[in-house]
Amino acid sequence: MQDHLSALVAQATTELPKLGSRPDFEAAKARYVGPKGSLTGLMKQMGQVAKEDRPAMGKLINETKVALQGLLDAALERIGASELAKKLGPAIDPTLPSPDPVPGTRHPLTLVREELNAILRKVGFTVVEGPEVETEYYCFDALNTPATHPARDPQDTFYFPQDAKFTNVDKKVAGEKYLLRTHTSSVQIRTMLKGEPPIRIVSPGRVYRRDTVDATHSANFHQMEGLYVDKNVTVKDLKALLDYVLKSLLGADTKVRFRPHYFGYTEPSFEVDLSAKHLPKVNKEWVEIMGCGMVDPAVFDDVGYDSTVWSGYAFGMGIERIAMMMYGIDDIRYFYQNDLRFLRQFA
Ligand code: DAH
Repeated sequence: MQDHLSALVAQATTELPKLGSRPDFEAAKARYVGPKGSLTGLMKQMGQVAKEDRPAMGKLINETKVALQGLLDAALERIGASELAKKLGPAIDPTLPSPDPVPGTRHPLTLVREELNAILRKVGFTVVEGPEVETEYYCFDALNTPATHPARDPQDTFYFPQDAKFTNVDKKVAGEKYLLRTHTSSVQIRTMLKGEPPIRIVSPGRVYRRDTVDATHSANFHQMEGLYVDKNVTVKDLKALLDYVLKSLLGADTKVRFRPHYFGYTEPSFEVDLSAKHLPKVNKEWVEIMGCGMVDPAVFDDVGYDSTVWSGYAFGMGIERIAMMMYGIDDIRYFYQNDLRFLRQFA
């Protein structure tokens, strides 16, 4: 009997750790400890054991029971763990960042803006930004644009109600209204009021106009403003700078010409045309691309610079217009629709 009991434990010790499934486990459990199992069979033989040996034998049977139960518990736990592991699949580390199957790409307007910034930084320009909510002073008055100028008409400019308050945008003149800036030229004034010449800045940013949206117009778009103030600055310097910028951006085959124009803040003023037939979808000889000129002395007077000492040039261009030429995009609305089929082409 004693030998049978220890043989049973020995057999269970080799067999139970090898069980692979729940049905196998249930069958083994029945064989060892079930009503018809080996242990029950051995217990039934107790009657044949001599009376004086029974207590020792009872103790032995109990120890066997405990040993078998321990082996069965361990086997069940192992089977349960392997079932769970199968359900969960390969081992995972939940603390790792999730793998992003589609990394983002830079927006074409960002690409052009960054490229222009880099080109201008090379020749000493600093990038500065101004607020999109502006006052009439910075956007118009200080830029020598009188109250009667058509750009200031409420049909062209988004004004805030007279009582609107923006504590982070300073008002210069009592009673003036806040508005959404119509151009980034306002940053010229903010920069000049903050420091002394020489000045060499570019200011990219979003601007707003009451335009009806179509393939070439948008109520908000992006501009890049440039301002250079120093002694003895001439139109030649302006032309050389714009030649450099536009050839660097669009290729050495690009030609640049000036046409006389009028802007309140520059005198003389020019519109700049490009000849860049190598670009996609450019089928005209000359395409108008930006405005520029020599800073009007009235602007210097406004910011307290001595206009008999200081001279300078300014220019402003639309980033969308340039991006459309560079990439052959024929509808400005693509820039704002966030359609990945469009955006991914610039990856
Ligand atoms: N502010 C003008 C616009 O929005 C562009 C411009 C023209 C900027 C001439 C300038 C300039 O600095 O000198 O159309």
